[in-house]
Amino acid sequence: MGGEWGSAVTYKVKFLPVNVEIEIEEGEKVLDAAFRQGVLLAHGCREGQCSACKSVMVDGDFDLDRYSTFALPDYEAEQGYVLLCQTLAYSDLTIELLNYNEEHMFLDHPIRTVLATVTEIRRLTRDITRLRLRLKEGASFAFKAGQYVDIRLPGVDPARSFSMSSLPSRPEELEFMIKIIPGGYFSTLLDQRLQVGDELEITGPFGNFYYRDGREDMYVIGGGAGMAPLWSLMCEMAEKGIDRKIRFFYGARTTRDLFYLDEIRELQGRFSDFVFVPALSEPAEDEAWSGPTGLITDVLEEYLEKHPSSAGIQGYLCGPPPMIDAAIRVLKHHGADDRNLFYDKFTASTR
Ligand SMILES: Cc1cc2nc3c(=O)[nH]c(=O)nc-3n(C[C@H](O)[C@H](O)[C@H](O)COP(=O)(O)OP(=O)(O)OC[C@H]3O[C@@H](n4cnc5c(N)ncnc54)[C@H](O)[C@@H]3O)c2cc1C
Ligand code: FES
Repeated sequence: MGGEWGSAVTYKVKFLPVNVEIEIEEGEKVLDAAFRQGVLLAHGCREGQCSACKSVMVDGDFDLDRYSTFALPDYEAEQGYVLLCQTLAYSDLTIELLNYNEEHMFLDHPIRTVLATVTEIRRLTRDITRLRLRLKEGASFAFKAGQYVDIRLPGVDPARSFSMSSLPSRPEELEFMIKIIPGGYFSTLLDQRLQVGDELEITGPFGNFYYRDGREDMYVIGGGAGMAPLWSLMCEMAEKGIDRKIRFFYGARTTRDLFYLDEIRELQGRFSDFVFVPALSEPAEDEAWSGPTGLITDVLEEYLEKHPSSAGIQGYLCGPPPMIDAAIRVLKHHGADDRNLFYDKFTASTR
């Protein structure tokens, strides 16, 4: 039964099998209502593109906002699957979660909106730019290494999602690695309009991509700007003295698209068993490159064939969705369990 709360009609959403209940306003999205009440549901893009929030609607009237049929194919929608980031409530709802961590059902860090000043815009490669922001005096912003925020011009939509490449131990200064897409809304803003001293508004932190303890070998896999959350995660491990076996696979097109090579070498020195495997997918014939070539996921497959993991695999993946899907297939083929695979697909925004 719906209730009146102020002028809004409100309903209840019950999540199974975790026995957590929240309130929701009529027409509100389930994921937004959960965030508002500090409840952490599995999520990625929050735009119906990645499927991280897929769940089963057991009971209730609802509608689905715009989503990609890659994230929710028609046959799944017909079977009652929904994407919680796009599910609008029109009655009390009962929802069965598919991905959840019962011990971790509440947000560690509240989602907030803060103002920040641009302190650096610097090209790292021909199409990846580093953006540094300093929070306004007195503002604080707690996050976990690997998470992301929405960035927008103050008060102006749309926003775009970008993962922090900086460390949570320096919450007053956030750093991002951003791919410049010709003609892209934020890309053009960053490349042509934004200047040091300008203000941006950030909202977050979002995302379930962060470090998990374990004894397995860590397979860290990224391409392009996917370096950002991986960099933050590995640097935080080094900072905290967490020493695990790490295999870091990074895909770029040519040597011109590789960056942070000195920094990675330095990071490598802070772990006792860290192997970095960069691979080029489109090396020029005259390039002085003796490393592996081809898709990073093929290079990963070849590596795992030669070096099977006896301790098991824990995977951390970030970058373009096709790369992540292919890497998940490879890691699962080599024994990785779904519960030990963590990723953020850098899907394009629909806003
Ligand atoms: C959880 C999450 C974390 C992310 N973290 C990062 C990050 O750390 N760094 C980063 O660079 N990006 C990241 N992204 C992706 C980023 O939010 C989008 O790439 C961004 O929307 C592109 O912004 P734009 O305004 O320049 O382009 P848009 O105006 O959104 O798009 C312009 C055109 O480019 C296409 N397009 C958009 N994104 C891509 C892409 N990545 N590759 C190829 N074509 C694209 C669109 O389909 C469209 O046709 C993340 C995305 C998500 C969901
Ligand atoms: S589809 Fe809902 S979070 Fe990506």
